[in-house]
Amino acid sequence: MNIGVFASGRGSNFQAILDAIHQRVLTARVSLLMSNKSDAGALEIARAHHIPAVHLSQKQFPDEPSFTAAMAQLLKEHDVQIIALAGYLKKIPVSVVREYRNRILNIHPALLPSFGGHGMYGHFVHEAVIASGVKISGATVHLVDEEYDRGPIVLQKAVAVEKDDTPEMLAARVLLVEHEIFSLALKAFAENRVSIKERSVWIQ
Ligand code: GRF
Repeated sequence: MNIGVFASGRGSNFQAILDAIHQRVLTARVSLLMSNKSDAGALEIARAHHIPAVHLSQKQFPDEPSFTAAMAQLLKEHDVQIIALAGYLKKIPVSVVREYRNRILNIHPALLPSFGGHGMYGHFVHEAVIASGVKISGATVHLVDEEYDRGPIVLQKAVAVEKDDTPEMLAARVLLVEHEIFSLALKAFAENRVSIKERSVWIQ
């Protein structure tokens, strides 16, 4: 299974996917790493692993359709079968969502549908979780549809919110779980163990 990873940041989730492949937990190949940020750490990780590392951003194009066409072409060129959004902060064009229906996975650092949606990313999530007084948080892998963080949930794992947690402490605890469940979800897709009925997704 060829995975196309999209990332905007340092790429620890991308690295965790590569680790799972190297440890033979996940039988797959990352055929493309794409980032909208030319200085993303994820691009460096891809280069170090001789994985095609492409900077592709709306800013490089005169309009949305030409950007979307370039993204679609890139996915085709690298024979991407499943897209993993590993800290990718841009919306996926609707035409790509449709082309890859039920084949785009996103990792979110909270237990959706709580603490999700526009603007809920990175430290903003953990600040909101702590401010709300909830006693558990965690990570969610979900299918990507046309709405931010709204797609059907594939896997979740909870962590405790501790009394004196700072957003950074909570983020670090959640990140470990992100790394764990993202690879498990991709493994299930690679092994064809995912059943999808409308909004209900279950791993056998
Ligand atoms: C992670 O917290 C992920 O949940 C969110 O963005 C962050 C990406 O971190 N979508 P990294 O670049 O994978 O380290």
